[in-house]
Amino acid sequence: MARRILVLHGPNLNLLGRREPGTYGTTTLTEINDRLQSLAAAAGASLDTMQSNSEADLVGRVQQLFDAPVDFLIINPAAFTHTSVALRDAIAAVRVPFIEVHLSNVFAREAFRHHSYFTDLAVGMICGLGPRGYELALEYALAHA
Ligand code: DQA
Repeated sequence: MARRILVLHGPNLNLLGRREPGTYGTTTLTEINDRLQSLAAAAGASLDTMQSNSEADLVGRVQQLFDAPVDFLIINPAAFTHTSVALRDAIAAVRVPFIEVHLSNVFAREAFRHHSYFTDLAVGMICGLGPRGYELALEYALAHA
């Protein structure tokens, strides 16, 4: 069971609840993080969350895992999914097992969202299930990782 879990949220996810609710729903990021915190705490695991609109900050946070490792990473890279070789390389460097989560079904959307720089490195990818996707990723981490 993963005892130390990090959840990373990429750009614009701080706007959840207000951002395109037809696509991303009305649940806020705080509500998602609170729910994950309580699920992790109930399982005796520690869970840290971070959201950033900055690629550099996300790369820096992943690099910290060299010195302060976690057992499992849950990441929604948001728009960086489709653009960021740098964030992919950072995750590959620290070799942390991870699940990629997307609230929306990226394959039912524009063609540029169909490619991810992360999926081939991931344990798995969950998309289209809204905030439930994060909970399922956490359940997996707690049970299997
Ligand atoms: C997203 C999908 C991405 O294509 C988009 O850029 C996001 C959010 C999702 O959770 O559905 O910002 O990762």
